[in-house]
Amino acid sequence: MIDVNKRIQTLVHELNEHAYRYYVCDQPTISDAQYDAIFRELSALETKHPEYVQDDSPTRRVGAPVKEGFQTAVHTHPMVSLNNLFDDEELTDFDTRLRRHLHIDPKTELAYAVEPKIDGLGIELVYEDGLLVRAITRGDGQTGEDVTVNVRTIGAIPLRLRHQIQGILEIRGEIYFPKHAFAAFNQSRTDNGEPTFANPRNAASGSLRQLDPNITAERPLSACMYALASISDEIKTHTELVEWVSELGFKTLPTRLCRNIDDVRHAYNYFLHHRETFEYEMDGVVIKVNSHSTQKQLGSIARAPRWAVAYKMPAQQAHTVVDDIQIQVGRTGVLTPVAHLREVEVGGVVVSRATLHNAEEIARKDVRIGDTVVVQRAGDVIPEVVHVVLELRPSHAHPFLFPTVCPVCKTDVERDEGEVAWRCPNIDCIAQVRERIVHFASRRAMEIEGLGNKIVERLVDAGLVHRIEDLFKLTREQLVTLERFAEKSADLLLAALEECKTRPLARFIFALGIRHVGEHIAALLAHDAGSIDTLARMESQALLEIEGIGPEVAASVIAFFRNPSNQQTLKALAALGVRPTEPLNKKTSTLFAGKIFVVTGSLEHYTRDSIHALIQAHGGKTAGSVSKKTDYLVAGANAGSKLAKAETLGITILTEQEFAALLNNTNQLGEASAILI
Ligand code: IVH
Repeated sequence: MIDVNKRIQTLVHELNEHAYRYYVCDQPTISDAQYDAIFRELSALETKHPEYVQDDSPTRRVGAPVKEGFQTAVHTHPMVSLNNLFDDEELTDFDTRLRRHLHIDPKTELAYAVEPKIDGLGIELVYEDGLLVRAITRGDGQTGEDVTVNVRTIGAIPLRLRHQIQGILEIRGEIYFPKHAFAAFNQSRTDNGEPTFANPRNAASGSLRQLDPNITAERPLSACMYALASISDEIKTHTELVEWVSELGFKTLPTRLCRNIDDVRHAYNYFLHHRETFEYEMDGVVIKVNSHSTQKQLGSIARAPRWAVAYKMPAQQAHTVVDDIQIQVGRTGVLTPVAHLREVEVGGVVVSRATLHNAEEIARKDVRIGDTVVVQRAGDVIPEVVHVVLELRPSHAHPFLFPTVCPVCKTDVERDEGEVAWRCPNIDCIAQVRERIVHFASRRAMEIEGLGNKIVERLVDAGLVHRIEDLFKLTREQLVTLERFAEKSADLLLAALEECKTRPLARFIFALGIRHVGEHIAALLAHDAGSIDTLARMESQALLEIEGIGPEVAASVIAFFRNPSNQQTLKALAALGVRPTEPLNKKTSTLFAGKIFVVTGSLEHYTRDSIHALIQAHGGKTAGSVSKKTDYLVAGANAGSKLAKAETLGITILTEQEFAALLNNTNQLGEASAILI
């Protein structure tokens, strides 16, 4: 028994070390599959011996949902805010002011620490004897919300400090949504008919306020720590503090030590010019007097310290006029207001549209047709309306009335409790039908060649297609009645429809447009269920047992298959000969353990996500580029430079068929194929 407990402790320690290397240092030393294998061993032992489960076990990162909203919690020391500087002159004044206060002449050194000001959410982490016990949002500075369950899911935040610290330690920093993940995240929300976030900061905030930590766990949140609520006398400077915090196992900021205000100016310019290269949004730098005793001497005024200041960076903004506000109806019926703008350049990109997100956003910002607005590129990509320039509002501009009926089919719109998005509930709404079919036919879904936006619109408008299954009932005679639709195009489209009938199951599931089921989730479902009939019969419990599937997805999948209209579609599709290719393997194995794959070229039988999921399910790793470390290159048609490089490096190259054969062998033999190992 003692041995089991020891083993559990060792595994927890090992896994936490690997999480640290992966999330904090960005330098993993083992593959995901190896990590998963250790994780599974720990999980199994814990199931058998719940009495030995440790508080800092990585299996305990995702806990139970919060029932009735977050509790408030009081900060033992208030979380102050910072005064702002906006230009060089104010920077000089800041230094002069501090020197006057300290009675030091311009020749005496006054060192500063300069670091990025992350545009995220302030957080306080409370550790008790080295264990994370509480996480509190900044709130009003005195009181915040207890978001511990969600913060525990953030990989960059250690559940146990890397050094033994007795008593209470309160560490402060910023939680953020990495920029590079933001665009893809918003895209998947649009695909799922969910409202998008205006910027990474809002995405971080929305993610942290989820009552179900399973949802937070799916978001790629990260965190950097930069302050302590109270500082022991042993730590003399801010730069030492950063070093110490880093040793405890946190991500920290690239703090620059500056010997005088001129150095500070250089540091500011450095961060300004390299702003784009950071993984978080930076809205300025924070300048801190480096010496803690000098900080103490300077103290605070009102709610801000005298010894620190935020030097803001300019946002990438421009002024333009709102010519119109139009409502788009997505495939799940979500109504998204879009501002049509007079073209303007923002940070080198011409912008003519900006999303207004939803009814609340328009009302909050009070954007009206005819208004002059400030637009900004947020998260480096999506333009957003920041605010209206009220002085320039034309007298005739009246508040935008969000439609109470669908602008396309005139059905009364609805809103689910707790959601911001208004939806058109009419699943036969022509806009939804159109979008659903466009999605079904799209490249990453059923990939029906020649069935793009325009053709779908014509088919739907002509009344030839109302539902997905209608596509497969189209005849040559019907198609040629369409204006400017030659016989040749008709034949090509019919052939493409025939050809798509055996697409892989993962693509088919994705194509159905089930809410919350993006490509990745579709691959997981296909892999586990193995057939559409099995998936349709799966109960909540079975769905939740699939790694990576949370309650929201499970509920949505179940609702989809229980819907009579969807059942009718599935039945009709089967009768019309749509038979997705079922995955060859339904099990996981260690066939590819430790092997690194690169996939290139266009594949016929897999989506990128599904082949990646397969490789990972069999213990392999996938990489984006070929290097000496690559073990296998799976090359589809038109493979270019990666294939050439793999050939030069002598890396084993597999065709799609060879890859499939390997998996197939494994399934029949139940063990690894000889040629691989
Ligand atoms: S120091 C006394 N450092 O900016 C020191 N704050 O108005 C107080 N922030 O809400 C904060 N990056 O959440 C500090 N490197 C950084 C920061 C930072 C972002 C946020 C912080 C606070 C606001 C200060």
